[in-house]
Amino acid sequence: MPNEFFPIIRSHLYGPGNNVKILDKIFDTEADAVVLDLEDAVPYDQKKLARTMVSEIIADRSYNSRPYTFVRINHPNLKITEEEINLIVQDGLFGIRIPKVESAEDIRIVEEFLNAQEAKCGMKNGRIKIICNIESSKGILSAANILQASDRIVGFAFGAADFAEDINIWKPDNFSFLYPKSHLVLVSSAFAVQPPVDSVFTDLNDEDGLRKSSLFAKNIGFFGRSAIHPKQISIINDVYTPSSEEITKAQSIINALHNAEKQNTGAVNMGGDFVDIAIVKKAEGIINLSKSLGIIK
Ligand code: GLV
Ligand code: MG
Repeated sequence: MPNEFFPIIRSHLYGPGNNVKILDKIFDTEADAVVLDLEDAVPYDQKKLARTMVSEIIADRSYNSRPYTFVRINHPNLKITEEEINLIVQDGLFGIRIPKVESAEDIRIVEEFLNAQEAKCGMKNGRIKIICNIESSKGILSAANILQASDRIVGFAFGAADFAEDINIWKPDNFSFLYPKSHLVLVSSAFAVQPPVDSVFTDLNDEDGLRKSSLFAKNIGFFGRSAIHPKQISIINDVYTPSSEEITKAQSIINALHNAEKQNTGAVNMGGDFVDIAIVKKAEGIINLSKSLGIIK
């Protein structure tokens, strides 16, 4: 998986799978991905209806175009995984999110149904990707095992609401989750999957709080964030889009080291900033991201 193509996804917009009004408009936003929810946003007696509605929507999607289509299925404990997978695995589906993952076994159960359904649809094995939502202490402690359970896993997403409940945090702030979130960053990096995706921000009117907490997560190694309302998308996209100053600086770092190498030195003093190969790699990352997002050529 690590070398396989995976698109840049800054924002993942959730929509309840049983809400016609929301589902009608959800693909018309600037979100990079849409997550059609069959789990906690859908009451139990609406789950069957939701999976039928979601399946009809996927039939109209094309696999490799923005916003990429994901579905958050229910945890395998609910014993409806087979019905869900059989309806949603179609050409237009990019990936699934598995909620409350706590063990490699959770993944294996889902994977078996995915393998069978991909074969039935004549789809390449492994095409449907998995993002694992980690929302409990058990999930955090099993993160490395979970990643090794399937090549389909492209990364983790953190679930703050369930996590706060699991470890009994009354009023979470950024520091409440620093240790578990950093753990996900380390495991993702060690196993060369995508950086983890940040949790939703539930205060829809606090734009400043959304921006600050997104920057905090970005600065500990997250990339991208889930959203529950379209109005959160522009802030999330902005946080994970290199600014023109960042791009100019990255370009001058790359040029400075290029010139230094001509003079047989591997490091250079750039106006008081020490620049060596590690800094250049980071700068190249910003340039590559900007190219992938189409901001520069
Ligand atoms: C999301 O599922 C969360 O629990 O925050
Ligand atoms: Mg949750």
